[in-house]
Amino acid sequence: MTQGKVDALLGIVFGDEGKGKVVDVFTPRYDVVARFAGGPNAGHTIIFNGKKFVLRSIPSGIFDEGKINIIGNGCVIAPDLFMQEAQELEAAGYDLRSRLHISTRAHLILPTHRVLDRAYEAAKGKNAVGTTGKGIGPTYSEKASRTGLRVGDIIHDFPAKYEALKARHEQILRDLHYTDYDIQDEEKRWLEGIEYMRLFPLTDTGIEINRLLAEGKNILAEGAQGTMLDIDHGTYPFVSSSNTTTGGVCTGLGIGPNKIGEVYGIFKAYSTRVGAGPFPVELFDETGDRLREIGHEYGAVTGRNRRCGWIDLVALRYAIMINGVTQLIMMKSDVLDGFPVIRACVAYERDGIRTTDMPFDTEGWNAVYRDLPGWNEDLTTMTSEDQFPKTFRDYIHYLETELQTPITIISVGPDRAQTIVRAS
Ligand code: GDP
Ligand code: IMO
Ligand code: MG
Repeated sequence: MTQGKVDALLGIVFGDEGKGKVVDVFTPRYDVVARFAGGPNAGHTIIFNGKKFVLRSIPSGIFDEGKINIIGNGCVIAPDLFMQEAQELEAAGYDLRSRLHISTRAHLILPTHRVLDRAYEAAKGKNAVGTTGKGIGPTYSEKASRTGLRVGDIIHDFPAKYEALKARHEQILRDLHYTDYDIQDEEKRWLEGIEYMRLFPLTDTGIEINRLLAEGKNILAEGAQGTMLDIDHGTYPFVSSSNTTTGGVCTGLGIGPNKIGEVYGIFKAYSTRVGAGPFPVELFDETGDRLREIGHEYGAVTGRNRRCGWIDLVALRYAIMINGVTQLIMMKSDVLDGFPVIRACVAYERDGIRTTDMPFDTEGWNAVYRDLPGWNEDLTTMTSEDQFPKTFRDYIHYLETELQTPITIISVGPDRAQTIVRAS
């Protein structure tokens, strides 16, 4: 029997590229959908039949009843938020209990990790990262420090392990003079969440995934965040705390690199970023406001304004390289409808120096643009490529030439149906 493959679907900029929508569209092609990194910092929106869901920890393949969904070992999970998310899906009529498998090796986010997240951000003052406040950094730090708790720890003697780690966190918070917090209600829900998690298959998902691949099953790895938020390759220190890139698929699921098939890189027809950190293409003018309004660029998790700007080819080229992207997927093309001129950042410039390579330190660089003509047509109603206006086709062709990678899927609206697969 031919071995199955793991295709990766990765956000390749600053997150919120539209991963949830595309995973949902792709799910019928796969047997399994697996998350490999991140946790409830993610917010993946899926819209179909006029109904909207925002998934945080649960893979976006969950709406296809026949498919297994896996939360892999590279993820971090908050039992209370997981319970809330899963119960909402159960209330909407989806049966999750047997087909949502959770890695025993995934790390647990404690309520005190969330307090630590706030305390560390407060201590950083004006250098704060602008995290989602979900305890992501403290939980991954603890994983690296070898003091964390994993999902498998809930199986035996959990209360003692929990109390010991909580006490450690409380001591750190006292040392930071960060004592004005109250987690009583939160902790109660969190402990209920632990009990609720026991209703799901808690397994060594690495072994399971490799067994499924040996049986010829195909798996879609659903990325969270984006390449520019990767702990190694992003705009450090303004990043998240996991590897959001292709390498993270291997470590976060427990597979060898020879099991990776296609690497789909998702980006928007323009750029957004939420949280602090360098963003050379950021627009502070009416155009930026217009992109935010038309694109509804407000955080799916935190409701924060997303910072908006033109497309950044320096970042995209870098991300394609780091991930080994084989196919590109362009999202939210419709948001650019009606802009007379569309700009693309082709290089960065600082102190008279121009670069097309992603610099070590992206602070203080200015974007160098190339102007392209826009289009006036409404893309949202288009159902095939031959309906596209010429200037939009030229924009696609320009990006493919600059990025040396085919754009095989174009999204023209938030609904499942507004997805155009291009003839290759
Ligand atoms: P993710 O985190 O990568 O899954 O993306 P988010 O869900 O955080 O943000 C993407 C937003 O864009 C969501 O509100 C989607 O419903 C919406 N969206 C996705 N694709 C399109 C598109 O092609 N056009 C428009 N207008 N909205 C889209
Ligand atoms: P999805 O999967 C956009 C950003 C935060 C902050 C930084 C660190 O929906 O694309 P963290 O809470 O992870 O420690 O925050 O990363 N961030 C995201 N931005 N989309 C996301 O996820 C994000 N997850 C984290 O805003 O700047
Ligand atoms: Mg999101």
